[in-house]
Amino acid sequence: MTAPGSTLPGRLAPSILSADFSRLAEDVDRVAAAGADWIHVDVMDGHFVPNLTIGAPVVRSLRPRTDLPLDVHLMIAEPGRYLDDFIAAGADWVTFHIEAEPDPLPLLDRLHQAGRKGGVALRPGTPVESVLPFVKACDIVLVMTVKPGFGGQSFMAEPLGKIAAIRAAAERAGKTIEIEVDGGIDLNTLPVAAEAGANVFVAGSAVYGADDVTARVGAFRELLARVGEEAR
Ligand code: DX5
Ligand code: ZN
Repeated sequence: MTAPGSTLPGRLAPSILSADFSRLAEDVDRVAAAGADWIHVDVMDGHFVPNLTIGAPVVRSLRPRTDLPLDVHLMIAEPGRYLDDFIAAGADWVTFHIEAEPDPLPLLDRLHQAGRKGGVALRPGTPVESVLPFVKACDIVLVMTVKPGFGGQSFMAEPLGKIAAIRAAAERAGKTIEIEVDGGIDLNTLPVAAEAGANVFVAGSAVYGADDVTARVGAFRELLARVGEEAR
């Protein structure tokens, strides 16, 4: 698929937050073999969000185990303190929250100097205006469609209204950026987010909570192809 206003392909990024951490590499291999595009890694610090997950060592361990890009979503305070750890661990894409770092340009510079890609993320309640001045320096903007902190929450459609302004800001800067939606994405909500202009779809519980994970990734792939046909 191609998102409206975008020449970028639709991408499925399963979130390992809903995987079985006791067999993480196998769970990554399963979605990779079934056709996932990126692996989404949710990093939480128990401070910026009321939950704790994983850190750079897990990214470092996964890096040699998969060819897929590792898409690291930092839901942490002071992301600049840990950014170099995630770069060294092998993160390909890094997003960090605008609410945690109101001056994202130095961090984006560090990512680019290291040959990585990245951008800002915003909570559902954060106005889009807070990220627009920085879109020209971003490769990706992550629009949260649940409150960050936990998998398995219900999708919120309102934040999708931010996507058009983000794409317009990118176009004004002469850039095509990835727009990622995260939270409550399943086979029913993905088309709604695609219609709003997103092209990267994070799915945690809808992938790893399925009885047949391989079949579920296949169903997402078919849906991405169908949504793309309709967009053409
Ligand atoms: C939530 C995380 C999400 C989460 C999504 O704070 O950023 O990436 O894993 O999980 P689902 O797809 O279950 O909403
Ligand atoms: Zn996430």
